[in-house]
Parts: sequence; C-alpha cells; structure tokens
Amino acid sequence: MSIILSLLLLQAPHALPGETAVDPYVADNRHAGAAPFEGDGMALAFGGQDGIRRIVDRFVTINFADPVIGEIFANHDQVRLKRTLFEQFCFILNAGCNYTGRDMASAHKDLGVQKADMNRLVETLQRAMGEEGVSFQAQNRFLSKLAPMRRDVIEK
Ligand code: HEM
Repeated sequence: MSIILSLLLLQAPHALPGETAVDPYVADNRHAGAAPFEGDGMALAFGGQDGIRRIVDRFVTINFADPVIGEIFANHDQVRLKRTLFEQFCFILNAGCNYTGRDMASAHKDLGVQKADMNRLVETLQRAMGEEGVSFQAQNRFLSKLAPMRRDVIEK
C-alpha cells in the first residue's frame, strides 16, 4: 500500500494549493540544471533560506512587471514560479532544499525566449541580488552556475 502511495506521489503533478496544475512528471534534483555548491559559503552569502526567498520573490515580481520581458511571464503561474525557483536557487546554493520543478528544457519549451531576453533576466536577477546585499563575487559565482542553462532556455 505504502509503495503504491509513494509511486502515486512521485507521479503527482507537484502543484501545491494555489498553483495551476501542470502535466505530471517525476521530480528529480537533476532537473535543477546544476550541481550544488559545496559547503555553506554561498548559502550564507545569500542570507540563508530567508534571504533566498526574498531575492526570488523580488526577482519574480520584477520580471512580471518588466517592460522588456514581462510579456513572456504574463499569464504564467507566479505562485508556482516563486516556489520552484526558490527551491532551485536554494538547492544550487546548498541551502538545504530539494528541487521539485520541471527540467529547464521542459519548463521553457515554446516560450520563445531569445538571447536578449536571457541577458535582460540576468540584469533583473543582479538587481534582486544587489538589493539583498549579496556581494558581487557571490553574485558572479551563482550566475556562472546558471549560464550553461542558456542552451535549454533559449529557443533555437
Ligand atoms: C538560466 C536561466 C533561467 C533559469 C535558471 C530559470 C528557471 C526557471 C524555473 C525553475 C522555472 C519553473 C519550472 C517549474 O515550475 O516546473 C521556470 C519557469 C519559467 N521561466 Fe525560467 N529560467 C531561466 C530563464 C528564463 C528566461 C530568460 C525567461 C524569459 C525571459 C524565463 C521565463 C520563464 C517562464 C515564463 C516560466 C513559467 C513557465 C510555465 O509557467 O510553464 N526563464 N524558469
């Protein structure tokens, strides 16, 4: 019985209350797109889970309101994005989370993201990290973890 329950949970759409349902997928930390940093240095540089939460909330809010890339985010689930992006950042920063969202290629399929959109998103992330007082060195280390994901996000 518990095996069946576990299998059902693994197959669940991973949408929490308040989120729009998504097609079922199996959660896996590898979907985060990068291996986590070692040690707790980066987690501390981002203010732990509380700091990461504030940065992600601000980052998502900025992106939805952005005059350049806001259109790409319009009509997408902001509640889910704040949760899954938090999990992804927290996992990569080794701040004690698992990532339960979709892999980067599936999440960005058919969004039509271009290189310029990606560059703009880096700017909005720099803004959110800067507002939270993350050092430039830690910002750049984190951005280098995200950089290789471009190939799964940008539409060819
Ligand atoms: C390395 C860069 C990026 C990372 C790490 C990233 C990360 C993520 C994550 C974790 C999700 C949520 C997946 C889920 O909930 O299952 C997501 C969804 C999304 N991302 Fe990104 N993203 C990146 C670049 C971009 C860019 C450049 C844009 C557009 C300018 C963008 C627009 C979106 C949108 C609209 C969604 C929601 C998709 C949906 O509702 O189905 N992302 N992204």
